[in-house]
Amino acid sequence: MSSAAETVLSVRDLSVSFPTSEGTVKAVQDVSFDIRAGEVLAVVGESGSGKSVTALAVMGLHPKSAEITGSARFGEHELLGLDDKTMRRIRGDEIAMIFQDPMTALNPVFTVGGQIAEAIWIHRDIQKKAAMERAAELLDLVGVPEAKRRARQYPHEYSGGMRQRAMIAMAIANDPKLLIADEPTTALDVTIQAQVIETMKAAQDATGAAMMLITHDLGLVAGLADRIQVMYGGRIVETGTTDEVFYGSSNPYTRGLMSSIPRLDAREAARLTPIPGAPPSLINLPKGCSFRPRCTFRTEICLSGVPELEEVAPGHSTRCFHSGDLPELEVMVEVHS
Ligand SMILES: Nc1ncnc2c1ncn2[C@@H]1O[C@H](COP(=O)(O)OP(=O)(O)O)[C@@H](O)[C@H]1O
Ligand SMILES: [Mg+2]
Repeated sequence: MSSAAETVLSVRDLSVSFPTSEGTVKAVQDVSFDIRAGEVLAVVGESGSGKSVTALAVMGLHPKSAEITGSARFGEHELLGLDDKTMRRIRGDEIAMIFQDPMTALNPVFTVGGQIAEAIWIHRDIQKKAAMERAAELLDLVGVPEAKRRARQYPHEYSGGMRQRAMIAMAIANDPKLLIADEPTTALDVTIQAQVIETMKAAQDATGAAMMLITHDLGLVAGLADRIQVMYGGRIVETGTTDEVFYGSSNPYTRGLMSSIPRLDAREAARLTPIPGAPPSLINLPKGCSFRPRCTFRTEICLSGVPELEEVAPGHSTRCFHSGDLPELEVMVEVHS
């Protein structure tokens, strides 16, 4: 990936809120980021931090009641407010999605190969037989053994990991420019997770697509992501290259996420330190910095307002009043292993 690579998706000042009977849920506030061709951007944060809402806004998949402001440029298109017909054409063709549960994408009554083939011929001028052959090739590419035979099987004949591979094959079937994967391995066993992540990397390499990889598990992305964007309470709190974030994080929340990653050298498997406390209510955000109530570095100033997302090094920004005076970081994870 070179820095001159074309910007595939450019999101600016995205805010999403949901009016509810209890009040307005401010799910996402002032989120801006770019993803370039061939690049993997990991979006990381605890459950409820606004990761999925960000992705769904980009894909035009929110209920009509959602209030969405800002901009999401994808090539010649402004995606926010795009008409349903154009959005449907773009989804599944130029933008493809991989979800946690493959059964949201796979229909149990059709063969796996048949469904991938259908995804191809809906969007392309291609013979059904050629599409079926292409489906088997794609299944082979994502590591489904005996792909030709297994293309004729039904989803229930696949294991969880194999189904997730099939969904990846379907996602890349039309050479998308952008792949959005939302917690793609969360439902899988730890051993299978690593294999599926490898498969996603292979699929992304094969297509040269940009990828937005959403996960609550920072440890999962070390070997895969080019850049990491950490979200808390609907806002970006740190963003930078994977190395910058793992070796030079200047944000207490990101550091908290890192200390809950199992260490390779840990003597007992369960030596994890999750961040004490719970994520904030998005209807009544705490005064000042949203992370303040859980933060071990908090002082008076943290009540004074929401800290700005400030650049601390080229391409590395953080949102913390104390970013300059945090203690030396103990590096816990081997990046790009
Ligand atoms: N349609 C909706 N109506 C009301 N609140 C919603 C809706 N969709 C998401 N939210 C809220 O927005 C917040 C962010 O959700 P989400 O982006 O799904 O979090 P995550 O980071 O776990 O993916 C959560 O508090 C969630 O309850
Ligand atoms: Mg989510």
